[in-house]
Amino acid sequence: MPALKIAIDGPAASGKSTVARLVAERLGGFTVNTGDLYRAVSWAALERGLDPVRDAAGVVAMLAELDLAYRIAEPGRLRLHLNGRPVPQEAIRAAAVAAVVSHVARLPEVREWLRQRQRDCCALGTVVMEGRDIGTVILPDAPFKFFITASPMERARRRLAQPGEVAAGATVQSVAAEIAERDRIDSSRPVAPLRPADDAITINTDGLTPDEVADRVVGVIRGGPRP
Ligand code: CDP
Repeated sequence: MPALKIAIDGPAASGKSTVARLVAERLGGFTVNTGDLYRAVSWAALERGLDPVRDAAGVVAMLAELDLAYRIAEPGRLRLHLNGRPVPQEAIRAAAVAAVVSHVARLPEVREWLRQRQRDCCALGTVVMEGRDIGTVILPDAPFKFFITASPMERARRRLAQPGEVAAGATVQSVAAEIAERDRIDSSRPVAPLRPADDAITINTDGLTPDEVADRVVGVIRGGPRP
């Protein structure tokens, strides 16, 4: 199969990352989780003692000090590096980062700074790229675009089941409130808001296993019927 571009967008904790990984495995491609880029910038800001919610100018000025890049870690796998060091997943998935990341991601300068880094990943071969604006802004020419959703309660339950991604003592209600707030900011920002591309196929994953969702996605890519 020639190199493909597959765009997967959707709201927080909708299962995009799991589906992207399964699809990439089946097609022999790379997964690019673009949320990690926004999370890494947010983490770097917090590490420097900045308040990303109030100090947009500080976050933007910090970008000049950052060297953020994907490197091939092993065949088929990318690893994000910040200033020459691997970015620790547990650090960027922490609740403190989740609380500020949408404020960082709404800054046009941050999005602009990250745009080409995302596009450059397509030179690697088949790429399954997931985020919020992949089908609309980053890879508008991707031949396959999917918008993966699930109901708010289902998403909160899924996020709660991911150890290390929620604050201590979190409940389904508190997690649902956190992801609803992030979705609100992501959907209402003027630049690259979260929304399905006009030519995206939307899949509601309530009641579906990750494998069943991946079956549908790969089925479309291999020319099967559109769900
Ligand atoms: O894993 P989860 O669904 O919680 O989110 P993520 O994919 O790690 O993305 C974290 C945050 O980064 C989102 O809530 C958005 O604010 C931002 N983001 C974005 O603005 N654009 C993207 N392409 C990816 C993420």
